[in-house]
Amino acid sequence: MIPTPPRKVIFDTDPGVDDAMALYYALAHPCIDVVGITTTFGNVFVEQAAANVLYLCALAGRSIPVTLGASHPLFKNAESPPAFIHGADGLGNLPRRSNTPGRPDPGSSAQFIVDTVRASPGEITLVAVGPLGNLALALQLAPELPTLVREVILMGGTVLESGNVSPVAEANIWNDPHAADAVFTAGWPLTMVGLDVTHQVILPLSLFKTIANHHQHVATDTLYHAVQFYSAFYSQHDALVGKVNGCYGHDVLAFVVLTNPELFTLQSGRVRVAVDGLAQGQTMMQRKNVVYPQHGWHDDIPHTQVCLQVQADACKAVVTSTLMRDWLQTPLTS
Ligand code: BDR
Ligand code: CA
Repeated sequence: MIPTPPRKVIFDTDPGVDDAMALYYALAHPCIDVVGITTTFGNVFVEQAAANVLYLCALAGRSIPVTLGASHPLFKNAESPPAFIHGADGLGNLPRRSNTPGRPDPGSSAQFIVDTVRASPGEITLVAVGPLGNLALALQLAPELPTLVREVILMGGTVLESGNVSPVAEANIWNDPHAADAVFTAGWPLTMVGLDVTHQVILPLSLFKTIANHHQHVATDTLYHAVQFYSAFYSQHDALVGKVNGCYGHDVLAFVVLTNPELFTLQSGRVRVAVDGLAQGQTMMQRKNVVYPQHGWHDDIPHTQVCLQVQADACKAVVTSTLMRDWLQTPLTS
């Protein structure tokens, strides 16, 4: 059998505790090659997001290019980061950080995406798990980008499930609805992993304890610390999650759909984003194959593959077995 080379991925992120889970899942998985990490505002300010990525990579013994990206939404005013969910530092208020090396590369996240995709046409998958400004800015820099990327997978939005920042809006889309609409209408192969599936997968805190005990490594200890804070929020605010003392792993599912697409049920349809008004941030999906004459729903609007169902137990098992692999290296120190 010819071995499949690992999928080259640019990870666009705003860490964020579930972003940290996703990062470590990607680093641990043999089918994923993270060629760069682009950061954005969202769960924290963008400078903190980049510092968190550099720190998490250094703890895991990995040196990967990291860039600073969007610091605010394209048009609307930025809101305060949700410190009550992810901690003021985005990683559950770590008591102290060890000294690690690394600083962001000088270019912007959007420029990094454009340059990397142009250098390897047809090879790069973008996995985006924060507000979508970096992808929207990259599209402005290089309108031909959709013909050059292999695939885009984003964590964001919701179709049938209630929103998590308003009755209809999910946080990443809410944070920059104009950027999100540009991403949904760009015409690249696009998969949406939204609350319809992420709210079906509850990860118990004990899972991260088991992983930390198994590795006895500062990276997984740090992840466990962060998940404790994040799980406390979810367990208090969501009765279903409280039952198991855990959390939603939102962002990690964007990578699980890449490695294990068979665990998801997808429907193809046009997705548009409400950019203002009471429905701001809503991801509206055309689920019936009918012709709508209204502006914005014409035939030339591309389709998105939307995840609507997931095999939750199998998904949890994949996350666990991946993070239990022998993937950690000696931490980088400065
Ligand atoms: C999304 O919002 C952020 O808080 C999480 O990191 C995730 O990307 C979930 O709505
Ligand atoms: Ca995120």
